Amino acid sequence: MVPIPTKRRFSLARVLDHWYIACAAHELGARPLARTIFDTPLVLFRSEGAPVALLDRCAHRNVPLSLGFVEGERLVCGYHGWAFDHDGACRDVPALCGAAEGKARRVPRFATREQHGFVWVYMRPDVEPEREPYAFPHLDDARYSTVRHGMDFPGSLHATLENILDVPHTAYLHRGLFRGVKKNEITAVVRRTADRAEAEYLGEPRPTGVMGSILAPGGGTVTHFDRFILPSIAQVEYGLGAKNHLVITSALTPISDFETRLFAVATFRTVIPAPLLKAVLLPIGKKVLEQDRRMLQAQTDAVQRFGGEQYVNTDVDLLGPHILRLLRQAERGESPQEDLHEEQVRLRA
Ligand code: FES
Ligand SMILES: [Fe+2]
Repeated sequence: MVPIPTKRRFSLARVLDHWYIACAAHELGARPLARTIFDTPLVLFRSEGAPVALLDRCAHRNVPLSLGFVEGERLVCGYHGWAFDHDGACRDVPALCGAAEGKARRVPRFATREQHGFVWVYMRPDVEPEREPYAFPHLDDARYSTVRHGMDFPGSLHATLENILDVPHTAYLHRGLFRGVKKNEITAVVRRTADRAEAEYLGEPRPTGVMGSILAPGGGTVTHFDRFILPSIAQVEYGLGAKNHLVITSALTPISDFETRLFAVATFRTVIPAPLLKAVLLPIGKKVLEQDRRMLQAQTDAVQRFGGEQYVNTDVDLLGPHILRLLRQAERGESPQEDLHEEQVRLRA
């Protein structure tokens, strides 16, 4: 390649002291389940019904424990039968006449929670977390309906978060589906606090395109927030009048530096009956996500081919830089209570 300016850097950050979704609760049954988060192989199983996550590497000869089986409350390695409990301690070495326990025979354990149909894992091994996983909004509110959807994105955590929360691409990549070509000048208030970055759009007309016409046939203005919450929550919230409220919350799990799994939960109450709305919006939503997936793949391929990023930000890249700053601070273990930010930005959307 001819010399082309490229910064040999990537917008990557690994926030280990936090919770990530490993799987949907129904995926974890009687058999061990292999999952990868931050390139770290994990094995999940149930002990007394509760999810357990261990490093997926047998202490004996490093065979993945996910190739073994669950017996009683223990996970048994498929090679020589060493058995591990919910804490990762070795409780049985079948061929050994002496005691099975031993510090070196332990497998690292990751804290877990089962909450609202998901199994969460805390990615710093062998610690008791001081915080709880993110709680999805409105799941216990009978007025709200819910749709869940999962898929994998070939992009870094940062690129995927930015994509979900980025307005300017919608009029191009999703033209006709979400926003049309006609543009209005609106104001966004961008705020960054210790654990989140948020854009609030003031006086935004109802989005044009198929989605907007279904949600609000009469037009009008909407309330709209795009929100990032550490370490990996992307949330889009729309309100139209008192009766329509839609919150799409995506909990992202970094599988590796350039693969990100999305667990999306849409909660909504609308004047349109929920089954009708689901039937119409789900196929459109999936099409939108597929367009995003293809673009993230192209972005990732280009960044890797050039050996780094050469990004340029303008004022309307509202949240990407703030997200990276928060991720990097959290990766370093900083909790910047004083590092607050608020600004108003005019954009055409
Ligand atoms: S490798 Fe697991 S028991 Fe030997
Ligand atoms: Fe998109």
